[in-house]
Amino acid sequence: MDEIKITKATTSKLPSVDFNNLGFGNFFTDHMFVVDYRDGEWGNAEIVPYGPISFEPALSAIHYGQSIFEGIKAYRMKDGSAAIYRPYENMKRFNRSALRMEMPEVPEELFIGGIKKLLQVENQWIPDEIEHALYVRPFMFSTDQVMRVMPATTYKFMIIFSPVGAYYAAPMRLWVEQKFVRAAEGGVGNAKTAGNYAASLHPFAVAKKRGYDQVLWTDANEHKYVHECGTMNVFFLVGGKLLTPGLDSGTILEGVTRDSVIQVAGDFGIAVEERDVSIDELVQAYQAGQFTEAFGSGTAATVAKIEEINYKGFIMTFNPLNQPVADALKQRLTEIRDGVLPDTRGWMVKADS
Ligand SMILES: Cc1ncc(COP(=O)(O)O)c(C=O)c1O
Repeated sequence: MDEIKITKATTSKLPSVDFNNLGFGNFFTDHMFVVDYRDGEWGNAEIVPYGPISFEPALSAIHYGQSIFEGIKAYRMKDGSAAIYRPYENMKRFNRSALRMEMPEVPEELFIGGIKKLLQVENQWIPDEIEHALYVRPFMFSTDQVMRVMPATTYKFMIIFSPVGAYYAAPMRLWVEQKFVRAAEGGVGNAKTAGNYAASLHPFAVAKKRGYDQVLWTDANEHKYVHECGTMNVFFLVGGKLLTPGLDSGTILEGVTRDSVIQVAGDFGIAVEERDVSIDELVQAYQAGQFTEAFGSGTAATVAKIEEINYKGFIMTFNPLNQPVADALKQRLTEIRDGVLPDTRGWMVKADS
């Protein structure tokens, strides 16, 4: 792979962005990373000014959906350096998604190398404020301009950055889905592919109309086992143990934050069971006073508390002000990320390493 060519933007948008009102995914930095796949190899890696890209209307990604992405965060560490949170895990997941969608793998020098190089160019965009970050969005889509259902022969891999504030800060109210399905065994539930998100939008809209923030997905066969919610994996504190749906069925996105929560819970001496979790089990535990906390885990929010779960009209509530395990896990992960605690697991990858 040749050197990454850099073409700098003539002006920066940075002075026009209000870092106190970022929200999520609203602003993009001055540059983007682009590399093309053709004739069986990646070539022409470049950093160019952020801006439109143009294609013919027959672009295969639009019609047939070969499109995958990742979501990662880069942080300003306490010592002023820039570091990326567990990007190798995202790279592995990205390449698993690529395999499932019959797309080429992206090698480390482009995936990790591209993020690092772009971070060096955009260093000033990494927010200093607490809970703020630079959201890193690597993505790949097919670029053939032929209208036939078949794997494309050309692809673009790109990385863009968005400075973000705190996400999903409000505790969530969840609707346990009994009609729609996010993923079935053998499908693409564990791939981070665009169509999964498109398919979730109508069920979300229906749940919203009912007054709920997110759908809590259940299995395709019986709507009995819990999967995940929105863009998060889920954890339930039952009898002092954390329960989270296992990954064997291939229907759940293998969250990097999920894995972090499991490891940090271990540090606290909290047992975690990764297995099938049925909604009936949760209801019974709730009725017995054993089900005391519920939260989601994901890059965007880290840990987001759940305050209500509605299962066919049976409502389970959790006081967001009394969820000590969720609070402790979130705090520990934040301290590792910000460099307040030593990074004993090598999770933070320095941008200039
Ligand atoms: C469907 C879905 N589940 C779970 C997650 C959580 O994964 P991670 O912790 O890697 O962000 C995400 C976010 O990427 C997601 O989109």
